[in-house]
Amino acid sequence: MAEGKNVLKEVSGGVAVLTVNRPEKRNALNAETRSELLAYLDQMKGDPAVRVVVLTGAGDKAFIAGADIGEFAGRTPVDQFRAMLASPVYAAVDAFPKPIIAAINGYCLGGGCELAMACDIRIAADTAKLGQPEINLGIIPGGGGTQRLPRLVGLGNAFKLLYTGDPIDAAEALRIGLVDEVVPAAELMPRVRALAEKIASKSPVALELIKWAVRASVRTSLDEGLRHETTLFGLAFSSEDKEEGVRAFLEKRAPVFKGR
Ligand code: COA
Repeated sequence: MAEGKNVLKEVSGGVAVLTVNRPEKRNALNAETRSELLAYLDQMKGDPAVRVVVLTGAGDKAFIAGADIGEFAGRTPVDQFRAMLASPVYAAVDAFPKPIIAAINGYCLGGGCELAMACDIRIAADTAKLGQPEINLGIIPGGGGTQRLPRLVGLGNAFKLLYTGDPIDAAEALRIGLVDEVVPAAELMPRVRALAEKIASKSPVALELIKWAVRASVRTSLDEGLRHETTLFGLAFSSEDKEEGVRAFLEKRAPVFKGR
């Protein structure tokens, strides 16, 4: 277990759990927390002991209740611009070359919801509440909320959440596609760990290529995306993991993937 001031990191069985640890502030993201998250992500990119990352919040009240509003007061537009450029944590999560799962254990608001949306998969406790309340502060989302939300839930649902600022419960989030699975709160971490461990047993090379291809799908035309997929398929075919996967199937045993 590594302990930053605001983020805990625990690695076991190929799965790293990053826990934002400011429960007394509902795990709100201040500059320090964003920097710690970025530093951990950077460290874990090339660490073969980490095959899958889980992002969650400490305590039972919040995943992340958004940006730390305390930091907004009195900040100049230039300060804010610089602060956002200084810690591009949403882009880092989006581009992280390994699977990353959000375990949403409570309030998932504003920047918290945006961070969850930048993850690959979102699993929520049935007690979670999700939303983009920035409108109530007279601002708009700045961590990708106006772009990733409509891609996940469609324009109408996105406008409703963004215009009203009202949070929705986990069941509604599942219905509109903002989360991918809802489980009883007590089962959240066991369920996420089981999913993460299953993914961690697959070929890290193939996982990385899948991530590239799927991320590209929302940015390119179908034709371009399909050509991209063919190239990445060729790359997967050249990996040792492919040799192992095919050999293991033919030998009727479980494959052992090394990420090469
Ligand atoms: N930024 C800074 N502090 C926050 C915060 C945030 N986004 N969210 C919660 N906190 C702090 C509160 O100020 C309070 O601090 P205090 O004990 O020093 O007064 C503490 O966390 C507990 O919050 P509280 O409101 O008492 O808890 P609650 O369980 O009744 O409500 C929320 C939780 C998340 C519904 C409520 O805190 C809230 O609406 N937070 C703001 C959410 C938001 O607008 N996020 C988008 C930011 S752009």
